[in-house]
Amino acid sequence: MIFYFSGCGNSKHMAETIAAGLNDTLTFIPEAAREGHYDYTLAEGERLGFVFPIYSWAPPRLVLDFVKKLQLKAKPDYLYFACTCGDNCGLTEKVFRKAVEEKGWSLSACFSVQMPETYIGMAGFKLDSEKNAQLKIDRADDLLMRNIPRLIDKECFSEMVKGSLPWLKTYLVNPGFNKYATDDSKYYVDLKKCTSCGRCMDVCPVQNIKMPQGEPVWLGHCIMCMACYHQCRSNAIQYGKATVGKGQYYFGKTLR
Ligand SMILES: Cc1cc2nc3c(=O)[nH]c(=O)nc-3n(C[C@H](O)[C@H](O)[C@H](O)COP(=O)(O)O)c2cc1C
Repeated sequence: MIFYFSGCGNSKHMAETIAAGLNDTLTFIPEAAREGHYDYTLAEGERLGFVFPIYSWAPPRLVLDFVKKLQLKAKPDYLYFACTCGDNCGLTEKVFRKAVEEKGWSLSACFSVQMPETYIGMAGFKLDSEKNAQLKIDRADDLLMRNIPRLIDKECFSEMVKGSLPWLKTYLVNPGFNKYATDDSKYYVDLKKCTSCGRCMDVCPVQNIKMPQGEPVWLGHCIMCMACYHQCRSNAIQYGKATVGKGQYYFGKTLR
């Protein structure tokens, strides 16, 4: 059983690849949470996996909230997570390990995979070049091919890219990010470009966009996955001045 979250497709690609390798099932965390579906039964010996992107050097809050509410009939005998990041993950392993240990479970394996960058909501953050993005995807696929057999064998391992100053990033920067940098009032739409197609509303994993008058309105519970920005076909959405001229990225789609 694999629970996953993905805003821009990188982690979805990883979750689908792992699920194919393990012949396992996938559940999209925001959908399960929306339906209030937190009770699951694992078959004997079944692996429990989580796949998600790194948001400010930690798992997204939505993922941690889901783990907190998740109810299993029995303790999983092999629990792992796999995460995607643009660069590095800080002390994500420590945060996730604590979350599962609070449930009485234990973490058996974890690894991080570098994938194309998706966060461009602040000055100084930019997307990878098309060449670099493809290089990251190719390397990620190689790493997955090495690690999937380890998951099949239920190997215990940890292969995380922590980066520099991991404690500072995870325990000081992350809480600040969650508090101040997920403010969706900075999103706006260029009405000359917007075609009212509704794609931004459809791709928002947490249903934070409505279109009462044919243009998107953000409702205040954004998780900053940036799916609305990256997936707008006419590039009509911006986040303050931070995103202007930075292009778009979605897994498998050409960069613009
Ligand atoms: C809000 C946000 C915060 C991010 N923070 C980090 C980070 O701390 N470290 C990092 O290496 N990448 C970071 N990234 C990049 C993503 O982790 C990376 O691009 C990931 O593969 C996106 O996965 P997705 O396409 O499944 O959403 C961040 C992306 C977003 C949207």
